[in-house]
Amino acid sequence: MSLPIEELTPRQIVSELNRYIVGQDNAKRAVAVALRNRYRRLKLPASERDDILPKNILMIGPTGVGKTEIARRLAQLARAPFIKVEATKFTEVGYVGRDVESMIRDLAASSVRLVEREKMEEVWPEAERRAIERIVEMIDEEIQRIEPDDEPDASEDEDGTPFFTGFRHEDLVKRAERRSRIERELLEDLHDDRILEIYVEESSNPFFQVFTPGGMEEMGIDTNQLASPFPSKHVARKITVREARESLIDDEARKMIDKASIQREAITRAEQTGIIFLDELDKVAGKSGGSGPDVSREGVQRDLLPIIEGSTVATKFGPCRTDHILFIAAGAFHISKPSDLIPELQGRLPIRVQLDSLNESDFRRILFEPKNALTRQYTRLLEMEGVQISFTSDALDTIARYATEVNSKTENIGARRLHTIMERLLEDVLFEAPEIDRKEIRYTAATVEQRLGKLVHDVTSSNVVL
Ligand SMILES: Nc1ncnc2c1ncn2[C@@H]1O[C@H](COP(=O)(O)OP(=O)(O)OP(=O)(O)O)[C@@H](O)[C@H]1O
Ligand SMILES: [Mg+2]
Repeated sequence: MSLPIEELTPRQIVSELNRYIVGQDNAKRAVAVALRNRYRRLKLPASERDDILPKNILMIGPTGVGKTEIARRLAQLARAPFIKVEATKFTEVGYVGRDVESMIRDLAASSVRLVEREKMEEVWPEAERRAIERIVEMIDEEIQRIEPDDEPDASEDEDGTPFFTGFRHEDLVKRAERRSRIERELLEDLHDDRILEIYVEESSNPFFQVFTPGGMEEMGIDTNQLASPFPSKHVARKITVREARESLIDDEARKMIDKASIQREAITRAEQTGIIFLDELDKVAGKSGGSGPDVSREGVQRDLLPIIEGSTVATKFGPCRTDHILFIAAGAFHISKPSDLIPELQGRLPIRVQLDSLNESDFRRILFEPKNALTRQYTRLLEMEGVQISFTSDALDTIARYATEVNSKTENIGARRLHTIMERLLEDVLFEAPEIDRKEIRYTAATVEQRLGKLVHDVTSSNVVL
C-alpha cells in the first residue's frame, strides 16, 4: 500500500487492519475515524485548522486481545511519525528516570528518521551513480599505480628539470575507455573482492550513544554539539568493493540531502500527523493516597496532562508543539478502572473503545486467517528446513478448543495462549527438523489430541503450567 494512511478512507484502514487482526471492529473503526479526522483537518484553511483538536482514544480490554497488535499494524500502515511507549516507563518529573516529555523527543527523532529515509530514497539512484563513479575511479587509479599503461609526456625545461605537459587528448580517450570497461566489469561483480581504501563514516562515539537516550538530554546538555544525530566522523578503512558500494552510496546520498530542512520538515510532520500510542496506561492508574510507587504514578498522570492537552517540548531538532498529536492510550484496566485515572486525564481521552475478549471461533480464525497467522509462521519456518507441515480444519478446531479451555480453567491470557499451545504441539518437530525423514507432516484432530490431550487435561485439573 503506497498511500499514506491519512489518504485512506476509514473503510480502507479497517480493511487493512483486518488482514492482521481478527474481530475488534469497534476499536478498528475508532482508530480509522480518528485518523481520517486528521486528514479532514489538514484540508481546512489554516485559520480554522488550529481550532480542531484531535479526539484522543482510550482502548480498554483484557490482556492478549489485540490492543498492542492494532497499534503495531497502524504503525506499519501510517507513513506518519509514530511511536509506541509504555506509560510504566516514565517517572514523575524530579524522580530519577525518563520524564514524559521524552516521548515527544522520541517522536521527533522518529519523524526525522522517516523524513530522512524518504529523502534518501529520492536521491538514491543519483547517489548510486556517483558512488559507482567513485569506485571506478579508485580501481582505475590503483591499476594505473601498479601497471601504468600510458606515461604522461615528460619534457625538459631549459635548465634541465623535467616537467609534465599533462595528458594528451589520446590519453584522455584511453582513460575514458578504460574506465567504462571497469564500470562494465563492476556491474558484472568482477571486482567484488578487490580491496579499496576508503574513508567511511564511523558511527558517532559509542560513549554518547550509551548515555544520550536517558541521560544527557534529560540533564539539559545540548547533545547536538556533542554527538550530531547525523554522524560525520570519517575514518580510513580497507574494505572490499562489495562492502564499499553500500557505504559509498549511503555517503553520497547523505551529501545530497540537507539536514536542516529535514529537521524542519520532521518537526512539522510530527506536530501535524504524529501518533503516540501510550500502552499500559492502567498500570499508572493506581488509587492515590497510598505510599511507594503509587505516589509517582499520579505524578506521571499529571505530567501527561500538558502534553496531551498541548504544550511545547524542546527537542534537539527544535521546539515541537503537541496540540495536534494524536494519542491512543490502551490498558487492560482489570485491576484499576478508567475512573481511577485522575479526572483531567480521563477528560482528555474522550473516545472509549472496549475490546472484546476472544472466544473459540476467534481463536480458530486467528490461527489461520491473519497474514502472519501462527500456522503460517511455523509452516514457513519449517519449509526452510525442507519440512512441509499442514493442518487439517479439525486440527485447528481442536487447538482453538484447547486454548479456550486452558484460558477459562487457568489464567486468561487471550490469544497469547495460542502461542504456548502451538509451541508445545510443534516442539519436537522444531527440534528434529534437520534430521527428520518424513518430509511431510499433517496435523489432524487425532494427532493434536494425541500430543496435547493429556497435557491440557493435566493443566486444567492440576497446576502444570502451559
Ligand atoms: N484480535 C486478534 N487478532 C489476531 N491476533 C491477535 C488478536 N488479539 C491478539 N492477537 C495476537 O496475540 C498476541 C498478543 O496480542 P497483543 O499484544 O495485542 O495483546 P494486548 O491486547 O496488547 O494485551 P496486553 O494488555 O497484555 O498488553 C499478539 O501476538 C497477536 O498477534
Ligand atoms: Mg499490549
